[in-house]
Amino acid sequence: MTDLKQFGEDVREGLSQSPKTLPSKYFYDQRGDELFVEIMHMPEYYLTRSEYEIFRNHSADLIEALNPDRQLGFDLIELGAGDGSKTIELLRELLRQKYDFDYIPIDISTNTLNVLSKRMKDELPDLNLNAKEGDYFRILEDLRNGNRPKVLLFLGSNIGNMTDDRAAGFLKRVSDVLHTGDTLLLGVDLIKSRNIVFPAYNDPAGLTRAFNLNLLSRINRELGGNFDLDSFEHRSEYTEEEGIAKSFLMSTCNQAVTISSIAKTFHFGEGERIHTEISRKYNDEVLNRILKDTALKVKGKLTDQEGYFADYILERV
Ligand code: AVI
Repeated sequence: MTDLKQFGEDVREGLSQSPKTLPSKYFYDQRGDELFVEIMHMPEYYLTRSEYEIFRNHSADLIEALNPDRQLGFDLIELGAGDGSKTIELLRELLRQKYDFDYIPIDISTNTLNVLSKRMKDELPDLNLNAKEGDYFRILEDLRNGNRPKVLLFLGSNIGNMTDDRAAGFLKRVSDVLHTGDTLLLGVDLIKSRNIVFPAYNDPAGLTRAFNLNLLSRINRELGGNFDLDSFEHRSEYTEEEGIAKSFLMSTCNQAVTISSIAKTFHFGEGERIHTEISRKYNDEVLNRILKDTALKVKGKLTDQEGYFADYILERV
């Protein structure tokens, strides 16, 4: 359940700024989740396919690089579980190699965890699965003093939706709950040319447009807004120099929008944009800069054949 008070406050704060912003975490209501699944399947959205390829072809190499403890066993903890399509390839290989481990997916959605648990039980009956619902850091804190080493998974370029400062803060908190020798497998989209990245956020079928506009529908539904969806357009930007895809909603006319639950009216000029999302792309330099104040060190990385996506192996030193 969304905390409507927090949602209202975040919307009020974002739309009061200049330039206006809205937090991308509010994309993901039920409709947003469905649209994101469709995005992951569309031909232009290479990210999911590329990371899946790494897991399908290189699970044994990932395990070798992560070098999990054979004697003590370990906890394999996934932050943001998703549908498990990629992880299942890794889990299958770990079971085949007879590792002793528990798989602990963490997600804020009970529904996601139920669907995932059912799938894993059906496909991997020998897996020890212990799903946990809630906030990543609250659960990591609880798991902190467990006696087994930890391997964390944070896949899907989810870190890309954070600014560099937030990503650095996030990884610092992760590194603080890990012990020396624990590892993190971090999936990131790589910086590459505009003709590959831009279409992934500007598909001709209009799914990304619908995903972006759903944020305004959600404000209308949940906060009593009166956004006219026909007078906002989806816009994206990407340059290889900057390495950050950005999404906006652009007002096509001068207009006022009232949001009743927060008793506010916002004015939009013709061509004015609301910045809704960043999708940061990475390379070694960007990642090392973000890791600077953490105790995490890059031990290796695996990429797909095209070199579009990377899973970095980080170790807590
Ligand atoms: C969830 N996240 C990694 C996606 C991305 O590529 O930044 C969200 C997304 N936004 C537009 N299309 C997909």
